[in-house]
Amino acid sequence: MNLLNAKNLSHTFEYELFSDVNLQINEKESIAIIGMSGSGKSTLLHILSTLLEPHSGKVEIFNENIYEMKQKKLGGLKRDSLGLVFQSHYLFKGFSAYENLEVAAILSSKTIDDNLLKQLNIQECIQQKVTELSGGQQQRISIARVLTKKPRIIFADEPTGNLDKQTANNVMKLFFEYCENENAGMVLVTHDETLARMCDRVYKLENKVLKEI
Ligand SMILES: Nc1ncnc2c1ncn2[C@@H]1O[C@H](COP(=O)(O)OP(=O)(O)OP(=O)(O)O)[C@@H](O)[C@H]1O
Ligand SMILES: [Mg+2]
Repeated sequence: MNLLNAKNLSHTFEYELFSDVNLQINEKESIAIIGMSGSGKSTLLHILSTLLEPHSGKVEIFNENIYEMKQKKLGGLKRDSLGLVFQSHYLFKGFSAYENLEVAAILSSKTIDDNLLKQLNIQECIQQKVTELSGGQQQRISIARVLTKKPRIIFADEPTGNLDKQTANNVMKLFFEYCENENAGMVLVTHDETLARMCDRVYKLENKVLKEI
């Protein structure tokens, strides 16, 4: 089943970042987007994940144009079905790591999966305040928080940027298993071509064009 369908996307800030970008994601499928710093990868991910309306083109999620949806429906879609793991992690700073996961679980009526904590190796630091955690621990907590919601599409921007190779590989494995078990899809933005190659398809954003490589 198709989860996301992007058609003829283009976007311009000071200069045109890209045009005529087309992309599809199906259940159990992961795709990677690579490209030079400043090429527009994060911008494209924002457009795909409801955060930024493109200058032209459309994004359909579950066959519905997300930029024509009513606010309330869009809010529900984001809360229940989309998981965003971005370059800066938006954890609640005054709370413990565990409380951050509890909030996600309550908002989406799901439960916290102990197995997930184990796989991300965060059982040890789960009771600590977010501000006391290392960058890599925060990154793994925010991944746990997103997966606790059980989203159907994961949008991840350098989700393993703060992690050592071994831990990064474990996290990628977890994402792939998640997609397989939950019929989910993933869009991964990364600078790491080795990680990118673990996905089903790899695209490069270059010279304003997104092409499969
Ligand atoms: N909100 C904004 N307003 C104006 N320009 C922006 C905005 N967001 C991004 N840009 C510009 O768009 C270009 C692409 O930015 P983007 O963050 O998408 O790149 P990127 O490919 O993700 O880079 P990196 O690999 O460094 O994360 C940059 O030149 C950036 O300055
Ligand atoms: Mg970026």
